[in-house]
Amino acid sequence: MSHDIVIAPSVLSADFAKLAEEIAAVESGGADWIHVDVMDGNYVPNLTFGADIIAALRRLTDLPLDVHLMVQRPEWYIAPFADAGASLFTFHPDATGHVQRQLDQVRACGMRAGLALNPATPLTYVEEVVDDLDMLLLMTVNPGFGGQSYIPAATNKIVRARRLLDELGSNARLELDGGINRETIAMARQAGADTFVAGSAIFKSAEPANEVRHLREACSGI
Ligand code: DX5
Ligand code: ZN
Repeated sequence: MSHDIVIAPSVLSADFAKLAEEIAAVESGGADWIHVDVMDGNYVPNLTFGADIIAALRRLTDLPLDVHLMVQRPEWYIAPFADAGASLFTFHPDATGHVQRQLDQVRACGMRAGLALNPATPLTYVEEVVDDLDMLLLMTVNPGFGGQSYIPAATNKIVRARRLLDELGSNARLELDGGINRETIAMARQAGADTFVAGSAIFKSAEPANEVRHLREACSGI
């Protein structure tokens, strides 16, 4: 199943003192979604946003909010984040028990459900819950921080994930997160991904709006 390309700037690398301007800039550059990295200082050694910030972002843009939870017990946040206006809710299966139940609850709350796999987490989870998945997120760095380098071995995993989703007849999106820039995005698209998170490549560039366009150009037609 092939999907249109989605570019999702990650606000983790934005200037938080100018969040409204930063969001407006990437929106004018044609960003499709806004990626929001929620970290709890437990699953990963960093702390970021909660429901109030999601609600604030919801007031700043009509774009889908692609919320990525790097937290233990993601089930605690399903209802509050739905109420705050999250559009997609993606969590790590190794951060909870009862993965299928959580995916089901995410959809029941009106959000699209995603599963995020760290570089060393096997793809086999996907086979068990494929009917409950709207998106598979592959981490192309170890989660916790923006600005890290794409792990080259991830490319082979993208190819295998693409094949697996196709074999299972899944319509789920295949999203990549970590170290995506003009160079890595083309390779990742070639490998079969359709949805690309980029934080530092966009928000640390001189012109974030233009960078969104460059990223799209770098992978379109592949
Ligand atoms: C990392 C986060 C990413 C991060 C990506 O743990 O999940 O979404 O914002 O940042 P870059 O694009 O700078 O690698
Ligand atoms: Zn993320």
